[in-house]
Formats: sequence, C-alpha cells, structure tokens
Amino acid sequence: MTEINRALLRKDAPIGVFDSGVGGLTVVREIMRQIPNEKIIYFGDTARVPYGSKSQDTVTRFSGQIVRFLRTFQVKTIVVACNTASAYALDALEKDTDIPMIGVVKPGANVAADVTRNGRIGVIATEATIGSRMYPKYIEELNKNVTVYCKACPLFVPLIEEGLWEDPVTDEISRRYLTELIDIDIDTLILGCTHYPLIRSTLRRIMGDGVTLVNPAYETAIELREMLAGLELLNDEPPALGSNRYQFYVSDKAEKFVRFANSIIKYGILSAKSINIEEY
Ligand code: DGL
Repeated sequence: MTEINRALLRKDAPIGVFDSGVGGLTVVREIMRQIPNEKIIYFGDTARVPYGSKSQDTVTRFSGQIVRFLRTFQVKTIVVACNTASAYALDALEKDTDIPMIGVVKPGANVAADVTRNGRIGVIATEATIGSRMYPKYIEELNKNVTVYCKACPLFVPLIEEGLWEDPVTDEISRRYLTELIDIDIDTLILGCTHYPLIRSTLRRIMGDGVTLVNPAYETAIELREMLAGLELLNDEPPALGSNRYQFYVSDKAEKFVRFANSIIKYGILSAKSINIEEY
C-alpha cells in the first residue's frame, strides 16, 4: 500500500462503504451495530450489478471509480463491502491509495481458519469470487491443515434480490448447491457473498446445527473497529443530531434501493441519491 497519509484523516470523518448493489448493506448493518458513533457514506452500484459474473479488469475499473467518488467526502477509510470486489480489486486499490482500506474476504477467511475443527471448510460465493481462489489462498496461508471446498451459487443473488428469502424455490436451489458440501462433511461454511446473510436461516436449516456459518460482514465490522482503534481514528462522540449521519448513493434509480434497504436496515433509510458514477 502507498503510505497512509495521517494528515488527511480525521476521527470525525465518515467511513466510505461500497458494494455492487444492496448486498453491502449487510456490512453497513454490522458497522452501525458495532461502531454506532461512525458516519457512513454508502455507494451501491445498482446500475452495473452484478459484479459476480464480470471480469477482473471490469470490476477493478468500476471499483476505482467508486473509490474516487467516496474520496470526495474526505472519508477516513473505505470498506469494500463486496466479496467480488474484495477478491478482484482490493490489492490494486490499496496500491493506489493513501487511506486505509478493508475488504470482506480476509476477515471471513481469518475466522474460518480459526474455528474449523475437522479442517474442512466450505465457501459459497459468486462465480468471480470462487474463480479468484482468494478464500482458499488466505485460509491456507493461515492454516496448512485445512482443505477448502468452493461452490459458486449464481442463482442466490437474483433470488435474494427478488425478496425470496424464505421460499420453497430458495430451499430447493440451496439444497442442490449445498448437498455436495454436506456430503464432504464440512464443519464450517463461509457465506462469501454479501447477499447471503439474508438467507442465513435457510442455509442454517439445510446445513444443520453442526456446521458453523461464518458471516464475513460481521467479522469485517469487528476488524474495522480494531483497525480504526489502532490508528486512533474511532469517533469518540456520536455525530450531532441532524448531521446526515448515514448517506446512501446509487448509480441507478433510488426508489427500489430505498425499499430494499429498509427491509435490511431497520433504522429507516428515507432517501438515496442517484449519481453518474461514470463521471469519476
Ligand atoms: N455483492 C456481491 C458479492 O459480495 C454479489 C452481487 C454481485 O454479483 O454483484 O460478491
């Protein structure tokens, strides 16, 4: 990474968070819970979602534009709240920036490597995240005695976006995807896509209680808190009332995003602004 430029960073600056669309809101929800004094600027690339079926070059270019947009708010850090962008673009983004950044893949990998008892870890994610092999790479660096089994689940994102979180169709598709991981006897399953925590109860039912489900969104919020504390950048005080604590931006129409966001985050997201991300 380029050296972090401390002079640029203020405790009371917002945290920038981005995803290809709405999935990153599962990360925002955890940040709101775990470090409630922080201001957040969220960008969801709703016009160009999904990233999970795109090439590394495209995802890296899109992510670079979003980082430039978020930096117009003088954010003190950026959370790449998308597994696909973390797997494909984070290394390149970090090389080019002087503020701290964190993705969702490493925090999930860290916990999975730690909690497995039988050394068999499953990862479910988009085709891009699975194809990047970033989860096995990080996990095997941390724990040589594990085997990582990867399964792309491309139908989960559209099912979740359609709101079919608890539905016989989602049950059936989940069974088809997960049977091979159950047969291999994994004891830990990483939900390697930011949408997947939304179907956690279906996944829990199908995998059974013996399998630990790792939610990288939750683990990322913990690592973010630790990183900001280490840099003495945690905001000590809640932002003043009326200070626009949480702001949401999207690249497509805002209405659908607001509806979806309110089903994930119970804080009442009243509005989102649509911007032209191609300008950045
Ligand atoms: N948010 C993406 C991820 O975590 C999934 C949606 C997409 O394919 O863009 O990988």
